[in-house]
Amino acid sequence: MDHGKVDQVPEVLLSRYEIEERVGVLAAAITKDYQGRTPHLVGILKGAWVFMADLIRHMDIDVTVDFLGITSYGSGTHSSGEVKITKDLDVSIEGREVLIVEDILDTGRTLKYLEEVLSVHQPHNLRVVTLLDKRSRRIVPVKADYVGFEIAEIFVVGYGLDFDQKYRQLPDIHVLRHTPLP
Ligand code: IMP
Ligand code: MG
Repeated sequence: MDHGKVDQVPEVLLSRYEIEERVGVLAAAITKDYQGRTPHLVGILKGAWVFMADLIRHMDIDVTVDFLGITSYGSGTHSSGEVKITKDLDVSIEGREVLIVEDILDTGRTLKYLEEVLSVHQPHNLRVVTLLDKRSRRIVPVKADYVGFEIAEIFVVGYGLDFDQKYRQLPDIHVLRHTPLP
């Protein structure tokens, strides 16, 4: 790693302006659907926190937030579906209207695991918002209720998304590779 400056990733897939506009639309839809209620947003660390920070600032209803830290076993660049919890929830979700906030859905294994783990705690309902969706890569049949952008089978970084823990701070979403990682 070069400790002087951030590595360049030339190709921008989604600019900060496109992202901001779409996040505003998602937040408006969520605000409408949860009118008069207080959803409990559970952000999945680490990828989703940049998105979640922007999302809640566009929402016009009361919300509460919590975070669940997870890490995939294996290389860390693709998910085996074997997930380890690195930070548990701080407060109970029992009876709450829970909205999982994810950065990206790929094979769907991580979300399936999350839905199983959270359902055990008996939320009133459990929905999902994801900024990005690689729908064509799905192995496990899971679906998000709110999707920012459907993208092709490529590997992207920035706006919270990493490769090997790098590039999370890039304001735009960039294409790191035109093929998914193995
Ligand atoms: P899934 O379990 O295969 O759906 O994988 C979801 C997780 O894999 C995400 O939460 C990300 O951490 C990671 N991931 C999948 N695709 C990408 C990508 O293009 N860029 C960065 N992380 C990705
Ligand atoms: Mg990741």
